[in-house]
Amino acid sequence: MLKFTISAAFAAVFLLSSFFTEQKPAAKTARENYATYCASCHGEKVEAFVDRKWKHGNAKSDLTKSISEGYPDLGMPTWKATLSASEIDALAELITESLKTVDQYKFTSKPTSNLFASEGQTVKLDTIAKGLNSAWGLAFLPNDELLITDRSGDIYRVDKNRQKVKVTGGPTVLAEGQGGLLDVVLHPDFAKNQLVYFSYSAVKNEGDQKLSTTAVMCAKLTGATLTDQKVIFEALPYSKTRHHYGSRMAFDNKGFLFVSVGERGNEKENPQTITNDLGKVHRLHDDGRIPADNPFVNDKTARASIYSYGHRNPQGMMKHPVTGEIWTNEHGPRGGDELNIVKKGSNYGWPVISYGINYDGKPITALSAKEGMEQPLTYWLPSIAPSGMAFVNSSKYPGWKDNVLIGSLRFQYLNRCVMKGNKVVKQEKLLPNIGRVRNIKQGPDGYLYVSVEDPGYVFRLMPVSM
Ligand code: HEC
Repeated sequence: MLKFTISAAFAAVFLLSSFFTEQKPAAKTARENYATYCASCHGEKVEAFVDRKWKHGNAKSDLTKSISEGYPDLGMPTWKATLSASEIDALAELITESLKTVDQYKFTSKPTSNLFASEGQTVKLDTIAKGLNSAWGLAFLPNDELLITDRSGDIYRVDKNRQKVKVTGGPTVLAEGQGGLLDVVLHPDFAKNQLVYFSYSAVKNEGDQKLSTTAVMCAKLTGATLTDQKVIFEALPYSKTRHHYGSRMAFDNKGFLFVSVGERGNEKENPQTITNDLGKVHRLHDDGRIPADNPFVNDKTARASIYSYGHRNPQGMMKHPVTGEIWTNEHGPRGGDELNIVKKGSNYGWPVISYGINYDGKPITALSAKEGMEQPLTYWLPSIAPSGMAFVNSSKYPGWKDNVLIGSLRFQYLNRCVMKGNKVVKQEKLLPNIGRVRNIKQGPDGYLYVSVEDPGYVFRLMPVSM
């Protein structure tokens, strides 16, 4: 009884005191103030805002000055009348803290040895091929041979003695901007039919204009010669731009071919409509026919090859070896790169929702989530510019088992994602400053193969026990 009275008295006092504190407006946190006063011009995520070329300095004192005084002639308001000195100080603090998310990628030195230590696994680079421009695609042929597509348009066959032979009969490509010869995959029955698939930037002249698009060619590989070439997919319409082609390919367990196509730099018209092929992931039969159970086959206005839409520029794709699902990653604008699992008929939101902002620092959208649009498994702020990706399930790298590895073009390292189911629970930066990582694949021999560009190399990662 006594106990009850005491606790009741405490409860009363507590209620009373909270009643009084509620009378004063609660001090806003720096994040709340950022959302209220800054996000409309600088974007929803402060982590995206800070990834910029600083004009007025980014030391805490510079920031306090910028925020207090503003640059009214340049469109930055003065905040000292609206926010208290301590609120401005807290905002400056938030910005300096957020800067660390960018600084973490600034590796200072180039590698001095080919030995790379990481948590749980040390590897040594073993050079498989060099003298390339950008080894975009890697496919493993029987007999320990490797097929490489170079963005310049060249195709190479590398044998187990690392002899590199040029393959003839590949597609004619437009190697300008981000275009060129892109991905390569083998037919699941390659051993029987020798079929190989190439994705590339196809070119077409219309009047005096040179237009291009993402296309897929299937051909038969015999030795170093391709024959029976057939274009099985051509993303329509062709565009004037030279960027955001995608494009990665993967076969799933049912033998369907998935192809990613970027929105070709026209975010307003392409990704959110299903009446064209741009900013989409497509699903095809191995000969280019449309599967009868594709999501939009019954919609007469829709392009029937579309499997999912609302994509920006997906440059990474893999089949998950355990679940069989198709995973993609895509480039966001400034910030907001995404990791997704492609689901039938789903909308991935670009440019209605995004965690990134425009390259000029202006917001693209105030939304990062919306009903009816998919959320990524994870996103990167700042942008790492993700490329090829691989799931490690071989026994060669016990320290990286069941991890997803993704190349970073921008920061020149290999990103390791430790997964718990579909959740990224931890990340580590492998091979710092190795070069722009374009692709990563696990070979049938269980080893990981990584390609970097300008100059182009393909390395095999040899596990080293320390
Ligand atoms: C109405 C739009 C607008 C709002 C709202 C706004 N800013 Fe700005 N801000 C700008 C513009 C435009 C610039 C670039 C000025 C220039 O070119 O020098 C800028 C510049 C800055 C800079 C200096 C960047 C550099 O490169 O040195 C900082 C820091 C900054 N803003 C912080 C904030 C904070 C914090 C808030 C919220 C309290 C805020 N801004 C709200 C428009 C805005």
